[in-house]
Amino acid sequence: MDQNNLKRQAAAAAVAEIADGMVLGLGTGSTAAFMIELLGARIRAEGLRVRGIPTSRSTADLARKFGVPLTDFAADPVVDLAIDGADQITRAGLDLIKGFGGALLREKIVADAARRFIIMGDASKLADHLSLKVPVEVVRFGWEATSRKIADRGAEPTLRVQPGGEPFVSDEGNFILDCDFSALGAAIPDPARRDSELRALVGVIETGFFLGRAARAYIAGPGGVARLDRTAAA
Ligand code: A5P
Repeated sequence: MDQNNLKRQAAAAAVAEIADGMVLGLGTGSTAAFMIELLGARIRAEGLRVRGIPTSRSTADLARKFGVPLTDFAADPVVDLAIDGADQITRAGLDLIKGFGGALLREKIVADAARRFIIMGDASKLADHLSLKVPVEVVRFGWEATSRKIADRGAEPTLRVQPGGEPFVSDEGNFILDCDFSALGAAIPDPARRDSELRALVGVIETGFFLGRAARAYIAGPGGVARLDRTAAA
């Protein structure tokens, strides 16, 4: 089965959790796009009255396209359920790396405001340990200095650029440094420590580490959709 089919299956499982009246966090990325499409179909078929806070401009555009009503934190300060994709998901703790799509800051604000945060992905996203490059959103001014500080913490940061070579700019107007920790080992050692060290640096706004936040993940593989729940001990 192709990867898009798997993403769609995982999205369908997450959309089944949505109940009438909910305020939703609408994630960003290709899996989230399936989620929004399927949610739009449920709204039309069942008359669900839900509203969503989008985590990016592209998600807001998709929500409009598929008839998912939008809201914001002024009207709805608490999100009942945030649903998003991820770039890497640990099996045991459901720790995540997010931000390959560049929306990590809004995604983290929405996840943080949510009573429940659930993740959808195909099985290629699952890992025993976090190991991918970690996107870090930084203020544009002085990004070179911020990058050097990040390098002092054991990472090799690379400024994210667009296909034309211009720096990628997030919806919030910031740069993203993709931080490679592989010099410290195949698995990123002590992600919580790495996260707090990065977040303590002047110029760093947020990291793509989403640790201990996801309550559940729907993971689609050739054998169907598995539901992984984060246990209190994990
Ligand atoms: C966006 O910034 C990311 O965090 C996405 O949620 C993540 O990249 C997953 O995207 P896909 O569903 O396209 O793999």
